[in-house]
Amino acid sequence: MSSLQLERVKAHERRPIRLQGVAAIVNRIVEEYGYDKSMLIQVLLRLQKSFSWLPMEMLLEVSKQLKVPLSQVYQIATFYKAFSLTPRGRHLVRVCMGTACKVRGATNILEKIQRVLKIERDETTPDGRFTLETINCAGCCALGPVITVDGEYHGNVKTHNVEKILEQYR
Ligand code: FES
Repeated sequence: MSSLQLERVKAHERRPIRLQGVAAIVNRIVEEYGYDKSMLIQVLLRLQKSFSWLPMEMLLEVSKQLKVPLSQVYQIATFYKAFSLTPRGRHLVRVCMGTACKVRGATNILEKIQRVLKIERDETTPDGRFTLETINCAGCCALGPVITVDGEYHGNVKTHNVEKILEQYR
């Protein structure tokens, strides 16, 4: 190889790699955290917040760019309730199924919501409007049964109020 060719190869190697699509999105966040593997959860939280869910392609990129095994990334993404590996709807409905809420009828509320939305728990309506999940305690047991929609609390919910509550979220 001539010295000129060698110079060209070196110049090419110095050029920053232009990442596109998911890789570029992940890279912006990973870079902010200084490619620090111990920041894995924070990176995933940021991605989850921005996109409402974590596609497998995104987990692969995080694994690659943070140099953390995919199995570890996947384990964390599936362990914490904050992460979703399937697309979520525009509004996240969470029914508290903690003991205090159960005693006050949370099971009936959950069943009513499932009937109204025509989905099971951890599913999203076909129009992408609602995702239904359950939680173990919303932290305000005296108000049970409690549901939250996009983090807004609704306490003392009655089955006949369910439609009215959901109607507020278009
Ligand atoms: S059990 Fe439902 S808020 Fe605590």
